[in-house]
Amino acid sequence: MFSFTEIYERYQDQADLIEFPLHPQKLYGSINYFMNNPGKKIRPVLCLMGNELFSEIQGDSYKVANAVELFHNFSLIHDDIMDHSMLRRGRPTLHIKYGENTAILAGDSLLIHAYIQLNKIAIDHRGQAMNLFSDMACKICEGQQMDIDFEDRDIDTLSYAEYIKMITFKTSVLLGTSARIGALIGGADAQQQNDIYEFGENIGIAFQIQDDFLDAFGHVSKTGKQIGLDILENKKTALLLKAFELADPLQKTYLKEAMAREGEDRIEAVIGLYKALNVDQWASDAIFHYTEIAFKSLDRIDIPVYKKEKLSELANSLLVRES
Ligand code: IPE
Ligand code: IPE
Ligand code: MG
Ligand code: MG
Ligand code: MG
Repeated sequence: MFSFTEIYERYQDQADLIEFPLHPQKLYGSINYFMNNPGKKIRPVLCLMGNELFSEIQGDSYKVANAVELFHNFSLIHDDIMDHSMLRRGRPTLHIKYGENTAILAGDSLLIHAYIQLNKIAIDHRGQAMNLFSDMACKICEGQQMDIDFEDRDIDTLSYAEYIKMITFKTSVLLGTSARIGALIGGADAQQQNDIYEFGENIGIAFQIQDDFLDAFGHVSKTGKQIGLDILENKKTALLLKAFELADPLQKTYLKEAMAREGEDRIEAVIGLYKALNVDQWASDAIFHYTEIAFKSLDRIDIPVYKKEKLSELANSLLVRES
């Protein structure tokens, strides 16, 4: 079985072969700007590892790995417009550098290129892969809409269950589907595909709670994103929901008053309350909890344990990620 780094390199070697046209220069220049400053590549690696659980990595899995990473980058470019983010992967976001119109088109173009990749896979799996992929893509739009709707919802009207549904849709379905389509191509049966999907989904829930945590407690030098943006944007994160649940009546009033402040003042006050309520420790426990659930799904897959080691390592490495 290959390690994360080995799979990353194999993926990278063939992903470099995806070529975009040169003109219009602004559109494709912006895409190169974004894609040449890569992220962690967790989704394509999950796809290839999902395949490798069941058979040698098939050529078609690289196409799916390309598709999920292209789709992910599309979703980030559009997400940064929606979230008014200035910084991504340590550099100005695409819409800040090239303008919103180009950012919308660059995202659209990456989405279309994701389907161009999927259309290259052999006919026997193509239909099923396309359906799984499209179902995932619709859910991400729904999750993103929930995320935006929650900005205008009062904190006391929102449940933790609604939050989990929102992050499952906006984030987890992509991790789950990446692993699942890889497994499908690797020859997994329906039950095995479900189990690997659930593994990815729960890793994804842990991943988004960690993302929420890093937005408040991370370092810009590691995350490459602006710290405190979720607080400024009124995002209903795991931290905010938990803080409100743990707060006594006086702290609840303070939290609402703090959320009405402007800029750095708001960020400092809210993070101060998170610390007073130990919400940072709670987040670590929650991340651990969902990773444990993910491991149970992985355990259920009836293949030799040694074949699952690299996926376990990946899940464990995400527990301590800082970027
Ligand atoms: C960021 O995903 C978006 C979320 C779902 C939280 P990643 O943290 O995987 O982004 P990159 O690709 O590594 O930059
Ligand atoms: C991103 O969630 C989910 C999608 C891109 C679909 P966030 O908005 O929390 O991701 P970051 O923090 O900007 O990377
Ligand atoms: Mg967002
Ligand atoms: Mg965002
Ligand atoms: Mg975030």
